[in-house]
Amino acid sequence: MKRSIKKILAAMLCAGMTAVASAQEGLEAHSQRVRGLVSQMTLEEKLGQLTQAAGGRSMSLNSRLTPDELDRVRRGEVGSYLHVAGAEPLEELQRVAVEESRLGIPLLFAMDVVHGYRTLFPVPIGMAASWDPNDWTVAARISAEEATASGLHWTFAPMIDIARDPRWGRIVEGAGADPYLGARMAEAQVRGYQGENLAARNTLLATAKHFGAYGVPLGGRDYGTADISERSLHEIYLPPFHAATRAGAGSMMTAFNDIAGVPSTANEHLIDGVLRGVWEFDGLMLSDWNAIAELINHGIASTRAEAGALALRAGVDMDMTSGVFGRELAEAIASDPSLLADLDLAVARILTAKERLGLFDAPYAYHDAGREASALLTPDSRAEARRIAARSMVLLRNENEALPLNEGAGRIAVIGALAEDAMTQLGSWRARGQAEDVVTILDGLRENAPAGVQVEYSAGAAPGNEDRSGIADAVELAARSDHVLLVIGEPYSLSGEARSRSDLRLPQSQRALARAVLETGTPVTVLLVTGRPLAIPDLADRADAILNTWMLGVEAGNAVADVVFGAVSPAGRLPVSFPRTTGAVPFTYSENPAGRPAHPDLDRDTNRYIDQPITPLYAFGHGLSYARFEYGELSVSAASAGPDETVILSVPVTNTSGRAADEVVQLYMRDPVASIARPRLELRGFERITLEPGETRTVRFEFRPAQAAIFRAPGIWDVEAGRLDFHAGAASDDLRASASLEIGGTAQTSVPAAAIATPGSSE
Ligand code: NOJ
Repeated sequence: MKRSIKKILAAMLCAGMTAVASAQEGLEAHSQRVRGLVSQMTLEEKLGQLTQAAGGRSMSLNSRLTPDELDRVRRGEVGSYLHVAGAEPLEELQRVAVEESRLGIPLLFAMDVVHGYRTLFPVPIGMAASWDPNDWTVAARISAEEATASGLHWTFAPMIDIARDPRWGRIVEGAGADPYLGARMAEAQVRGYQGENLAARNTLLATAKHFGAYGVPLGGRDYGTADISERSLHEIYLPPFHAATRAGAGSMMTAFNDIAGVPSTANEHLIDGVLRGVWEFDGLMLSDWNAIAELINHGIASTRAEAGALALRAGVDMDMTSGVFGRELAEAIASDPSLLADLDLAVARILTAKERLGLFDAPYAYHDAGREASALLTPDSRAEARRIAARSMVLLRNENEALPLNEGAGRIAVIGALAEDAMTQLGSWRARGQAEDVVTILDGLRENAPAGVQVEYSAGAAPGNEDRSGIADAVELAARSDHVLLVIGEPYSLSGEARSRSDLRLPQSQRALARAVLETGTPVTVLLVTGRPLAIPDLADRADAILNTWMLGVEAGNAVADVVFGAVSPAGRLPVSFPRTTGAVPFTYSENPAGRPAHPDLDRDTNRYIDQPITPLYAFGHGLSYARFEYGELSVSAASAGPDETVILSVPVTNTSGRAADEVVQLYMRDPVASIARPRLELRGFERITLEPGETRTVRFEFRPAQAAIFRAPGIWDVEAGRLDFHAGAASDDLRASASLEIGGTAQTSVPAAAIATPGSSE
């Protein structure tokens, strides 16, 4: 479609009009092969292409691939399968599609490869905590190598929902609370999965999900309504999707929930208007599992046929498992033939995805059993998993340099059943990860302990199990040890889909274990295992050190040992703050200031709770190091700049300690006076750098005023004239240097401000 037509269409849609007239122009964008196929297809074959069927469940892959299912493929009733795997079984399925169906259209094979396939990496919130998008690209590349060797073409990742409420169980799957950080992690993953050339046999089609505000359900309850302003939608929740679009994401998935009453699976304004029209996304849109049928539960359709018509018209191309497109959409089309144009476009987009993957030319390229046998869990992949896991951990507290533990550490008690829980380290989407591949925390600590250090273990108590009989044994061990490594937290089953919690404290048995062990007086380091921020004020008061380890994947134990014993200085940073209590969420460093900003003095009436301090327990961006860093002045290349000019902000950072370590230098912005209230602070850049003892590096950020633009309407963002304040520092609550810039005029841009990357470098 020509750009101008698209823009007009987008404007029409944004004004609430429909897109029927566009359909024929839309087909022109597809190849001759695709158009030729569309013109030959029967209605049934078209509906078949729109159908994604489950080849199994996520934990029992391929289990539904019965002979009847092969007949469906022969008849052209299926376009794609999910929850399938294996070079050989999928080759047979593909052969039936290519050689025994009328038009020989290949199938698309998909799976949730979210943080690894066989080599599992840290859960995504942990990946984001490394504050290095390159780590995500490396992990996604390895995942793609492995998954494609197993016959897969398509992953339902990256999950890029911004989430500020840790009650929501799926916070574990994303990059946390911040749109700028989230956008960087989104594009990094798309690049890793899709590589340079989607037609190569080792690249996976990526799915940015869940479009557009799944991470903000009311009360943090999964699937719930997102009752948010249009400004929040565009400034906070959509920028990662824009970044994924620019990075070339080949597909997206709609969210289960509604935004202000419009379920995303039927949101024509958002899908055909904003995403395809204004942003020019040209990929494939997939519904989430059964979401089309669930439009009836949302109360916007009374029959499955109506639900199908709504989703198709909104711009959904493929139906994940509800069967509505395959079965009832024909009825809707019979009563409203104008849907045929949308149908053809949906089919064309699906065929184009298959074409981009090279499947028409080489349908069996992904089915090399020899490659599958050698590509999974290689020593190199394990080494990367260990390196990245060590970079993901966040040292929340370290009183009196309790960590690292060295040769003189003496007797170390490892306490807590999570220390030997391999399944939990595999996280919430384990794809084909195997518990036996995992180096548990206990094994890693035992194997990597410095000479002369003794490691003993007591399970104490397991989360989710109220049997406390092991606590006495743990206390006895703690009392006769020199240091306790207390491994407590949430098991994998407490986070993820449909795992929202109303209580962000540790599970009861974990609290009881911690209390008893802390009473012994032996120094305690908590190794926190979790998929979400937890409310742990007691640990923050009483433990000597707290290392947040998330759930780290197959190399968990080795990576934990690398940090605990000091081979690696921790440099992960929180991608979302930790609250003091459950009642304090959602909270973000980036809220708009109130007319009466929060103040520590309780005699004043300000924007706060009266029963706790005004700060979170650990702020966004927080994370300690074994080294110390000093920041110099923040300088700006010019005191004022035009709205289209680029300025350079630079800050020298020195490692004043005696050991090499990484520091994450963070750049925040504030627009102090604008036509509408702006957030207190907004992240606008970060660089993770390595500094030798005594070394100084100057970190440079290239900032453009468009990164401060204010949302007016989809595709219309205003740069206002006036002052911008910048702060560089080690966390959102640890700002070390400031500078200002005067923007000398106004301008209009089209890109969500937080989606724009700030190129960074250091020298
Ligand atoms: C439902 C989840 O919301 C989605 O993220 C996932 O990709 C599908 N199920 C398929 O497993």
